[in-house]
Amino acid sequence: MDTLQKITALCKRRGFVFPSSEIYGGWEAAYDFGSLGVEVLNKLRRLWWSEFVRKRSDVAGLDGAIISHPRVWEASGHTELFADVMVEDTVTNRRYRADHLIDLIEDGMKPEEVDEVIKKNNIKSPDGYPLSKARYFNQLVEVQVGTLEDSKSKAYLRGETCQPIFYNYALVKDSMRMKIPFGIAQIGKAFRNEIKVGPFFFRTREFEQMELEMFISPKDSQKYFDELKSISKLWVESLGVNPEKLRFREQSPKEKAHYNKIAHDLEYEFPYGWKEFQGIHYRTDWDLKRHGEYSNTDFTYTDEETGEKFIPHIAEYSIGLSRLLYVLLFDAYTEEEGRVVLKLDPKVAPYDAAVFPLVKNKEDLVVKARDVYQNLINTGLNVAWDDRGNIGKRYYSQDEIGTPKCITIDYDTLKDDTVTVRDRDTMKQERVKISDLSRMVKL
Ligand code: GAP
Repeated sequence: MDTLQKITALCKRRGFVFPSSEIYGGWEAAYDFGSLGVEVLNKLRRLWWSEFVRKRSDVAGLDGAIISHPRVWEASGHTELFADVMVEDTVTNRRYRADHLIDLIEDGMKPEEVDEVIKKNNIKSPDGYPLSKARYFNQLVEVQVGTLEDSKSKAYLRGETCQPIFYNYALVKDSMRMKIPFGIAQIGKAFRNEIKVGPFFFRTREFEQMELEMFISPKDSQKYFDELKSISKLWVESLGVNPEKLRFREQSPKEKAHYNKIAHDLEYEFPYGWKEFQGIHYRTDWDLKRHGEYSNTDFTYTDEETGEKFIPHIAEYSIGLSRLLYVLLFDAYTEEEGRVVLKLDPKVAPYDAAVFPLVKNKEDLVVKARDVYQNLINTGLNVAWDDRGNIGKRYYSQDEIGTPKCITIDYDTLKDDTVTVRDRDTMKQERVKISDLSRMVKL
């Protein structure tokens, strides 16, 4: 088994990530986050919000609608330009993005031009079969909204979370008395009809993004772009991700989305290569200019000090929440000395600690252990309880899900109110006073 297979199996067995709708045979590219997965996701959401919204007086939060007015997606350019040229294997019916399959495809090539390249070079599918004619494939997910069949109207599930940030720009600016430069941040779901999905939950059709849009003067674009690059990478490193496995890469013109002038991807080195999991983008004034045109709104901003007038430009920081979890799992997965350990930073581990009574049929030990367990929970920690099997098996089980500290209540605890605390990474054990536990676990 390779690392991807091992992590996939671990995620299902221990309740991090399940294939969606499994009892119905599964549903391609959809995953459900289990009890431990959701703990990590919640921690990530909280940490990100705290870092990029709460700690910053120049950033305000938002939680916009998933289904908005369809004009939003016309204005944003997504109905027209959020499309890839696709080809299909005529035998297996597997679909491929033409530019992923064929190196000779150049930026902006139309389907007819792709057909020419395929014909001229006699290109076949990876399985060796003929390819279909190329065609555009729009990634927006369409929905019908309305109560009566005849009055239903076509709308879209949002293709990126940030569009509500753009059309609400003036409302947030005025209600929060913001002045440029300032930012609006949001965490929420986005949906894309991806042609190529996987591996595992790396690329899915429904996913969550954490986005920060900085509204800036065009003259400050470089400064804010560089700043977003630096603070976003530092934040990922603060989650314990190995800095040697991180790098920025500039997107080629062929890769760039229609709204981006400059795009730098933050990539992680997986066992199967470097892959992106966050983007820093300079979107220029594309978004507010287009929403202004399509809605007849004047978004011109006047700088109070200089009198300068401009449509605000945007420097964007966008990171996929589930994709970040995927990176954390690969970065943490370790096999050593006959055990599997998820060396997750305690900040993002599903449990902060686990509590065990040495044996489960000694009532006074269990009562004492329950007391320690409940007191830790009351301090706001997430604590696991385990009284099955022997202590060695319990350690093994907690290592595999990344629990940083295991606390055992034994006979000495009843005499002197101390417990054994075992560290996940060093496997060292020390005797600690119960009164010092919550401070120790919170570190
Ligand atoms: N608003 C800008 C934007 O959406 P993007 O590069 O398309 O930019 C940003 O997406 C991030 O969202 C990616 O770096 C990735 O982490 C995440 N993401 C995008 N598509 C995804 C998908 N199909 N599945 C999981 N995560 C995805």
